[in-house]
Amino acid sequence: MSIRFDGRVAIVTGGGNGLGREHCRQLAARGARVVVNDLGGSVDGSGASSAAAEAVAEEIRAAGGEAFANGADITDLVQVEAMVAEAKARWGRVDILVNHAGILRDKTVAKLELADFRKVVEVHLMGSVNCSKAVWETMRAQAYGRIVMTSSSSGLYGNFGQSNYGAAKAAVVGLMNVLHLEGAKHDIRINTLAPAAATRMVEGLIPAEAEALLSPELVSPGVLYLASEDAPSRTILGAGAGAFALTRIVETPGVYLGSDVTVDDVAAHWARIGARDGEAEQAGAFMQTDKFLALAIEGLAARLELAGVSA
Ligand SMILES: NC(=O)c1ccc[n+]([C@@H]2O[C@H](COP(=O)([O-])OP(=O)(O)OC[C@H]3O[C@@H](n4cnc5c(N)ncnc54)[C@H](O)[C@@H]3O)[C@@H](O)[C@H]2O)c1
Repeated sequence: MSIRFDGRVAIVTGGGNGLGREHCRQLAARGARVVVNDLGGSVDGSGASSAAAEAVAEEIRAAGGEAFANGADITDLVQVEAMVAEAKARWGRVDILVNHAGILRDKTVAKLELADFRKVVEVHLMGSVNCSKAVWETMRAQAYGRIVMTSSSSGLYGNFGQSNYGAAKAAVVGLMNVLHLEGAKHDIRINTLAPAAATRMVEGLIPAEAEALLSPELVSPGVLYLASEDAPSRTILGAGAGAFALTRIVETPGVYLGSDVTVDDVAAHWARIGARDGEAEQAGAFMQTDKFLALAIEGLAARLELAGVSA
């Protein structure tokens, strides 16, 4: 089996460096026409330069592929809409969006400035919202779309000193969950990548021996799968050093504690509330409500039966 992207148009934000560059190169090598978006700033989001995106687009063209560079700041919806319009004007469609651009402004919550918190949320969350919104109508009209969010183990599991980044990276998972439901009937599939790779973003944070193993090119095959025709939807794929794993958000079966429940009951049943046997993913928000109602009805019926009252 050889997965191809011939005839597909892909936009990769933050495609000028690190992981994004590899996503662009590998999509193009398998036939996609690629918009290499990058603002070209530093890791903390300051500055701008078109050089990085231009270099990647040029590299793709030199290898016989099709690509153009775009310097839109993804936090600016007008610039993002212009980028999508240019892709459509050149190639007629947009099939794939990889929301990948990102910055860091790490500080503990005790020391951080809220302006830095907002900036990080603006780039990771609102940047992903802007780009998804800008391609949405096109994907709906085509009845085809693949969107990949970029999260992080910092958001999924926490990392000291990254409250802004962790919050934003968890937020894109919430965005995926809802867009998955809204896009399903138009064959728009949304997935999330949680990568680990030696890029400028993590410079100095990982030992040199590990850097050699954590090559960005070993992550991109995961992104390509999430952006492919047979992609799953609403999955969170971890990828690094050639290893891959799925993160699942599951809920325990739960327990009904009665209509007279007190805080002491919750404390006393903590182990049963958290008992993992039978834990499951929920297809949507109301599945949880339905489950609780079913547990309550079942619990009430059992209590009535005990009290000798039959239906
Ligand atoms: N490297 C890792 O181990 C790792 C781990 C978890 C998550 N991530 C995520 O992967 C993504 C890319 O990380 P990377 O390691 O390749 O870093 P990187 O710094 O090499 O690449 C990020 C790119 O995004 C661009 N960018 C930043 N703000 C932008 C904006 N407003 N508009 C357009 N482009 C913008 C930058 O110019 C840069 O080229 C980020 O979302 C990051 O949070 C990386």
